Amino acid sequence: MEQTFVMIKPDGVQRGLTGEIISRIERKGLRIVAMRMCQVTDETARRHYAEHVEKPFFNSLIEFITSSPAVPMIVEGAGAVSVMRTIAGATDPKESLVGTIRGDFGLDVGRNLIHSADSLESAKREIAIHFTEDEAVLYERAEERWVYE
Ligand SMILES: Nc1ncnc2c1ncn2[C@@H]1O[C@H](COP(=O)(O)OP(=O)(O)O)[C@@H](O)[C@H]1O
Ligand SMILES: [Mg+2]
Repeated sequence: MEQTFVMIKPDGVQRGLTGEIISRIERKGLRIVAMRMCQVTDETARRHYAEHVEKPFFNSLIEFITSSPAVPMIVEGAGAVSVMRTIAGATDPKESLVGTIRGDFGLDVGRNLIHSADSLESAKREIAIHFTEDEAVLYERAEERWVYE
């Protein structure tokens, strides 16, 4: 089973979409194995978005991500990394397909509701930034034999 890192960003929490977003992940059949609500610290945000440090939007991105509570989580399932990117939608919500989280609820690239790791390698790196190993729980959902052949 593949693991990915997902985070409901502060706009998702402030707009009351936490339940809606979690529900979409659950209904897909994916398994949430770690989750918390927290205000991301400046240090954690900078580590998380280190690849964007030279971008013109870096400072505003860090300010936004740390401005209000977020909900980081570890999501597990077959092809979890790419499946979660598909559920999240394209980076700019103006271009994301309807039916995706960003396409259904967003309009601005700086307020795109959800983060989802872009590769297995990124997922591993981001999980290690946001969670300790003992925070992930090991369990099976009762419905999994109806989700997987
Ligand atoms: N041109 C931009 N202007 C403002 N914010 C941006 C821009 N491009 C990206 N961002 C923000 O930085 C985050 C990280 O960018 P990126 O890794 O390219 O997208 P993604 O989140 O889809 O992986 C985006 O989700 C978005 O919040
Ligand atoms: Mg990215």
